[in-house]
Formats: sequence, C-alpha cells, structure tokens
Amino acid sequence: MRAVIAERGWGWWCVDIGGKCAGFTGLSVPPYETPFTPCVEVGWRFRPQFWGRGYATEAARLALDYGFNTLQLPEIVSFTAVSNQRSRGVMERIGMQRDFAGDFAHSRIPEGHPLQSHVLYRLKRPR
Ligand SMILES: CC(C)(COP(=O)(O)OP(=O)(O)OC[C@H]1O[C@@H](n2cnc3c(N)ncnc32)[C@H](O)[C@@H]1OP(=O)(O)O)[C@@H](O)C(=O)NCCC(=O)NCCS
Repeated sequence: MRAVIAERGWGWWCVDIGGKCAGFTGLSVPPYETPFTPCVEVGWRFRPQFWGRGYATEAARLALDYGFNTLQLPEIVSFTAVSNQRSRGVMERIGMQRDFAGDFAHSRIPEGHPLQSHVLYRLKRPR
C-alpha cells in the first residue's frame, strides 16, 4: 500500500484512531479486468473492534472528496460480495447507487464460492 502511494500519490490510506491503525480506506485501480474496468474504486477494511461507529463511512467520504475534488475523477465505483451487508451499508450511506445491470462474478474468486457473486455501486462527480 505504501509503495502504491509513493508511486501514484494516493491509494489505500491507514485510518488512525487515537494512534492505532483501525483499518484502511481509500481509492484504488483494480488490477484485473471486469466489465466495468478501467475504473477507480473506493474501498475499506477495518478491524472488527472499530466496526459500528461510523468510521468507515467518515473515511469513505474523505476518500470520495479526494477523488472528485483533487483527482477530478468523473466517477468512482465500489463493489462487494452480494452478502456483505456492512460494506453495502457504507456504499449506501455515502450516496452510491447500485447499478443493477452491473452484478458480476468476481474473476479472482473461484467458481461457485459463496462470495463470488458481486454487486456494483457507482457515484458520479457532483456538479
Ligand atoms: C465493511 C466495514 C468497513 C463496515 O464497517 P461498519 O462498522 O459497518 O461501517 P461504519 O464504520 O460506516 O459504521 C456504521 C455503523 O456505525 C453506526 N454509527 C455510529 N455512529 C455513527 C456515525 N457517526 N456515522 C455513521 N454511522 C454511525 C451506524 O449506525 C452503523 O451501525 P449498524 O452496523 O448497526 O448499522 C467492516 O464491516 C469491515 O471492515 N468488514 C471486513 C472487510 C470488508 O468486508 N471490506 C469490504 C470488502 S468489499
């Protein structure tokens, strides 16, 4: 993650809560092909003890602000396993909209695995 940030200037940022690394949130360019790549995705992963307090939502809003206002991206996407309600909750709280035509089987997850089916959310740069 540090290497990507050093090279590109942005990426998955550590979320520091009271001096502890609670997890990460940021922007990334998926290094594999899907029907909607190339794209920039916003994503997050937190230690379970930091769930349920709105940190992912707050950090994701900062990442979107950076993507739209600093990088001037026209659109940011996010995707997760259909069953990942917590991640989908973050997407919905930050105003992303599900692209119902965008459901896909993740190419890096084995055929038939319960996490293979993914949902796609999109958000365009606000005018
Ligand atoms: C996805 C993940 C980051 C979501 O964590 P989360 O705690 O549900 O999300 P947030 O930090 O936005 O917190 C939202 C919760 O905090 C509550 N909350 C408390 N204060 C809040 C505030 N000020 N603002 C927003 N929400 C607040 C919300 O009501 C919500 O509670 P609920 O779970 O009872 O609905 C976490 O589950 C995770 O790391 N999962 C494993 C990794 C993963 O799946 N990553 C995504 C892969 S695609």
